[in-house]
Amino acid sequence: MAAICRFGMRMVPNISDIIAQCRNKKQLVQGPHIAEFEQEFLRVLGGRGRVRAVSTEYGRMALYFILKALNIPAGSEIIVPALTFWVVPEITRVAGLKPVFVDVDPHTFTMDPKAVERAITPNTRAILPTHLYGMSCDMAPIMALARKHNLKVIEDCAHSLGATYNGQPAGTFGDGSFFSFQGFKPLNTYGGGLAWVRDADVAKKVWEFADSEEWPSEKRVESILRAGWWQSTFIRERAGRDRPGRAQTFARVHRANAAPREGLRRDARRRAGRYGPARS
Ligand SMILES: Cc1ncc(COP(=O)(O)O)c(C=O)c1O
Repeated sequence: MAAICRFGMRMVPNISDIIAQCRNKKQLVQGPHIAEFEQEFLRVLGGRGRVRAVSTEYGRMALYFILKALNIPAGSEIIVPALTFWVVPEITRVAGLKPVFVDVDPHTFTMDPKAVERAITPNTRAILPTHLYGMSCDMAPIMALARKHNLKVIEDCAHSLGATYNGQPAGTFGDGSFFSFQGFKPLNTYGGGLAWVRDADVAKKVWEFADSEEWPSEKRVESILRAGWWQSTFIRERAGRDRPGRAQTFARVHRANAAPREGLRRDARRRAGRYGPARS
């Protein structure tokens, strides 16, 4: 398993040039770069089946559209981890479904498959694992349960672009997954989200839902970019990227902060013995 560290802002280094080019071409809001991004995302993430990536305004909207497109009957139970971002159960509720909370594994903080098994009822229709803090959930037993009980699996990958489980990218196990590109996510594009969907018909519906949303005005996009620029300026300053003298201090603090987490992962692997070989 490869986990993704969540520390700091991650943007492509030439983001200012890219934004300037889009502005010059009057493509700050819409343009061919959205489809290009989706294609590239698919290429990097991979996955079997007739998969499709659809951009959305937020990661949470991608979840909402996936839930709607899967046509899950109203009132159905959806299993969510007790430790996740609050919008995840809230969006399932807004979609007319009933979030059922299950506990997390105390060693990994991700959804405990045994707790999932206990929570399944005749009314359960889907499992929604969150790959929390860049750490993949234990997907083999979760997928086995889904197959046994004929449940959909929608992976929350807001924290985990780049994480893998037994060599397979998080987000490519289930029927769909969603990603967030807000600040402090593995890829920061100053906001936005993306739905990864396996089935072509479901993907078409997700695309139609996303496409029917109103596009933001250019003014709104400019204000988002300004806010993002200020945030990244602040973080860069703190990180010392522009002041090499501070970079070493930053790296030292970063390593010290990461150490307990590394210990946790080693401990989790030793105890559980169910994850694949350690990857650096
Ligand atoms: C675990 C998790 N899931 C989902 C989301 C939702 O992503 P977005 O804010 O892009 O809607 C977040 C956002 O912080 C998150 O941390």
